[in-house]
Amino acid sequence: MATWSAPGKVFLFGEHAVVYGKPGIAMAIKPRVSVTVRKVRNPSKINSPYIENCFELTGVTGSVYIHSQLPSSSGLGSSAAVTVATLSAINDEFNLSLEKKDIADIAYQVEKKVQRGRASPTDTFVSTYGGLILIKDNKRRILPPENFNIVIGNTLVSHKTSELVEMVGEFRRTNPLVVDPILNAIEAVTIRSMHNFNNLKVLGRYMDVNHSLLEALGVGHPALTRLVNAARSGGAYGAKMTGAGGGGCMIALCPKRSKSRVAAAIEAADGKAIITTIDTEGARREDDDEREDYIKAGR
Ligand code: PMV
Repeated sequence: MATWSAPGKVFLFGEHAVVYGKPGIAMAIKPRVSVTVRKVRNPSKINSPYIENCFELTGVTGSVYIHSQLPSSSGLGSSAAVTVATLSAINDEFNLSLEKKDIADIAYQVEKKVQRGRASPTDTFVSTYGGLILIKDNKRRILPPENFNIVIGNTLVSHKTSELVEMVGEFRRTNPLVVDPILNAIEAVTIRSMHNFNNLKVLGRYMDVNHSLLEALGVGHPALTRLVNAARSGGAYGAKMTGAGGGGCMIALCPKRSKSRVAAAIEAADGKAIITTIDTEGARREDDDEREDYIKAGR
C-alpha cells in the first residue's frame, strides 16, 4: 500500500490571458488530496474517470482510497491533485520508477482525456511540483517561493472552465479592438506584480485591477463581486477571482493579522472561506502511520 498527496492551486495573476500566450502566475496551496493505492487481485470498480485513466495509462490495477480537503469543480485544481496523487501512489506501489516530470506529463494526458481536450497543463504541473509558478508561452517555470497569506472564498456557484474560455475566445474574435487591450493590461499587471512580490500593498492593488479586467472580459459573477468586496472591507490588501470565473473561487491577499477577519467577512457574505498559504512540496509521500489511520478510518 502507498499513500501520496498532492496540493491544489490558485491563479494569482493572468488567468484567461495565459490562453493567448501572456504570462500568468499560479501558486500551489496547502489543502491537499490524499490517495492510497493498494495492489489487490480483484479491485472493486472505480467511479472516478481520472483515477480509472491513471490505472489504464500505467497498465496496472489496484484499489484506491481518496481523502480530499479540496472542494471539487471550484477552480482549485482538485481533479489535477487527485490525478497527480493517484499516479504518484501507483508509481510507488508498483515500483514504476517514474520521475516527477513523467508524473506531471501523464497527469496532463489523463486530464486532457477526461476533459476532452480542454485541459490546462498548469494545474497538473503546479500540483506535482508545488510552489510559485510562472506560465509563459505555454511553458512553466518555478519561481522562488513567497509566503503570501491568502484567504480563498468559494462562491459555491458551479462554473465550466471550457465554456468560459470559449466565451472569452468568441468575445475576442468579434471584438479584437476591445479585448486585446484588456489582455495586454492583464499582461502588464502580471509583469508588474512580479517586481512587487515584497510590496504587498501594491500587489493587492494589482489584484484589484486584475479582477476588474477579468470582469471586463465578461467572466465576473455577482457572487464573486460580493466576496471580493467583503474581503476588501475585511482588511485585505486586494482581492480577485481566481481561475476561470463565472462562479468558483476568489482569493484575497491579506496582512497576517487580518486573515481571520477577512475569512469571517467572506463567510458573512455567504462564501466558504479557506485560510491558506503556499505549498512548496508538491506531490509527497505520506508516512506509514498516517496510512494505517487512513485505511482504518475507511477514508
Ligand atoms: O478554473 P481553472 O482553475 O481551471 O483555471 C482556468 C484558467 C484559464 O486561464 C481560464 C484557462 C487555462 O487553461 O489556463
